[in-house]
Amino acid sequence: MTSTEYIKTITVVGAGTMGHGIAEVAALSGFKVYLADISTDILSNALGKIKWSLSKLSEKGQLRESVDNIMSRIIPVVNIENGQYTKEFASAISQSDFVIEAIPERIDLKQQLFRFLDENAPQHAILATNTSSLPISEIAAVTKRPEKVVGMHFFNPPPLMPLVEIIKGDKTDDEVVKTVYDLAKKFGKQPVVVKKDVPGFIVNRILGRFLNEACWMVARGKASVTEVDSAVKYRLGFPMGAFELADYSGIDVFHLVFIAMVQRGMKMTGCPLFKEKFDKKEYGMKTGKGFYEYPAPGKYVRPNIPKEAGEKVDIVALMAPAINEAAWLLENDIATMEDIDKAVMLGLGWPKGVFEYADELGIDSVVNALKKLKEETGLEEYEPNALLTRMVQEGKLGRKSGRGFREYRPVEEIAKKTLLIRLEKPIAWIVLNRPDKYNAINYELLKELSDTLDELELNNEIRVIVITGAGRVFSAGADVSSFVGITPVKAAIFSRKFQEVNLKIEYYTKPVIAALNGYTLGGGLEIAMSTDFRIASETAMLGQPEIKLGIIPGAGGTQRLARLIGISKAKQLIFTGEYIPAGEALKLGLVDKVVPPERLEDEVRTFALKLSEMPPLAIMLAKYAVNYGLESNIWTGLALESSSFGLLFSTEDVAEGVSAFFEKRKPKFKGQ
Ligand code: COA
Repeated sequence: MTSTEYIKTITVVGAGTMGHGIAEVAALSGFKVYLADISTDILSNALGKIKWSLSKLSEKGQLRESVDNIMSRIIPVVNIENGQYTKEFASAISQSDFVIEAIPERIDLKQQLFRFLDENAPQHAILATNTSSLPISEIAAVTKRPEKVVGMHFFNPPPLMPLVEIIKGDKTDDEVVKTVYDLAKKFGKQPVVVKKDVPGFIVNRILGRFLNEACWMVARGKASVTEVDSAVKYRLGFPMGAFELADYSGIDVFHLVFIAMVQRGMKMTGCPLFKEKFDKKEYGMKTGKGFYEYPAPGKYVRPNIPKEAGEKVDIVALMAPAINEAAWLLENDIATMEDIDKAVMLGLGWPKGVFEYADELGIDSVVNALKKLKEETGLEEYEPNALLTRMVQEGKLGRKSGRGFREYRPVEEIAKKTLLIRLEKPIAWIVLNRPDKYNAINYELLKELSDTLDELELNNEIRVIVITGAGRVFSAGADVSSFVGITPVKAAIFSRKFQEVNLKIEYYTKPVIAALNGYTLGGGLEIAMSTDFRIASETAMLGQPEIKLGIIPGAGGTQRLARLIGISKAKQLIFTGEYIPAGEALKLGLVDKVVPPERLEDEVRTFALKLSEMPPLAIMLAKYAVNYGLESNIWTGLALESSSFGLLFSTEDVAEGVSAFFEKRKPKFKGQ
């Protein structure tokens, strides 16, 4: 029995932006949900929004039941009338196994509500708050069950954002944290645990440091808004520039969140530009002006941020305060390294964890940048965390020294125009590297991929190939822009060329693993299906969307998909073009393993290293026997198997394998 089995009915209090989203998520996961707010108008508006959002998911083929079915599980309840909690509300609470609150961020309102919840909810019920800025323990203190009060912080919009921070108050029971963790998983979310209730938890603390420093860089005249944003987007690979994000989400929102964190004791000197914009009510996109200008209030166009503009920006100094904050969280045992990395990847869309950035930039460089900032500004908050200085003393400088927050094997990097090749012997990582185009596949990429495979085939020190994507995406498929005005003949040739590369992968002499780090669509999925193994991040979405463009898969999709998951499932994906999440792909046999995003690289590496210890020639022949055998009748397949079996007895590896067996030691295979 999982710890959440007894939870059947959930009440969500507050039907605003977060509340109605949380209610949608809970109903989607099969729970009966009471959604409470102060007026029927607010409630019917919220139900309308939930219905709209569910219809969108339904159009994308992501619902397993009808929108009406899911809606029927949500029961609206008016909770306050004439300043008093209503009987209906008390009744809903008395039937609830779990209550989550998403009302305005005022401690008096929350305490009043929790008193009432405590009086009316069953003994076993857990009371959660979605607060992002108030102390859990102060809310819990007004109840007689502080051990059952917990923070459950969703991100906006809850149905789409995978991350949930679970916050332990001073008195929260570990069992309760575990139950809420399991519940978040049942909601299809990715929980992280914040072991102590610090202001801003993980994501807002790290984001706060980062945005504040970006802003200070401009305020101190070191770079312009566009320069910083260009560096953030194109050199750090974040989905949006710092100011672009502030404008998009609302400068007022960030300003108020940061002020709340500082009021609760976080030592951060707010950058004056944020306040200036806030005072002038230039909140960003919604007011038509923020750090950038927009055609009209609420009308979004992406700001123009040239790729080269950020070349001179000091990205170490820009990231150092965020890294220092992450180190503080770790040093004070507020969250684990894995959870902190997961939180920034899923909550902020960073393509890598904050500790990975630290290791790449160099821990010594980060410490020096912090010291310099402290010297220049006299601000104590720049003092490098003890963990970082200790690491420098111990020579743990990050990737360059082979050890930092993680361990690294020596890596040689070769940058081609569309690919990045990382030689981490005996593994070669081929990274599809057009992140601003979601690694869309054009002629040039195909050519480089084909040439790279040829080169690596001859490199005896490389035993396993991994193909993955730069940024948060494996590949969004063939580059649609190369289809504009293309003739039917040229299209057929493109298809043929792409098929050739995929055949090369399928019959490659070394094992090939696809590490699916995000969207794996169209041609991206066709590459992945040609490899020997597919390991996917929980965040990956897979599909063959070509039909939506009026075409069909052209790089083997119609053939390999049917072979992997059966004819009718393949037809369903190809005819509808719908995307499926990694978990579902696992059930269909389209991927072999699904792992949390921050674990993907390590899992793939571990598996690749295991393969690399096996005899290369035997692996090659086993691969041929399986792959060719599947395409022919069993007589031919068996004949290939026995001749390969015989052939292997002519290799040195078989002698090594057999003698190691008798000598009870690990064999060392040479591939000869
Ligand atoms: N070809 C060319 N460019 C592509 C691309 C493709 N297959 N997929 C994404 N891109 C580009 C977008 O044009 C955009 O570039 P821009 O910033 O210059 O406008 C960038 O990558 C990001 O994509 P965007 O659509 O803004 O991101 P999103 O997160 O809203 O959506 C996808 C992601 C993958 C769902 C969406 O990009 C998509 O549907 N892509 C096409 C998938 C497809 O049909 N593939 C099969 C081709 S045969």
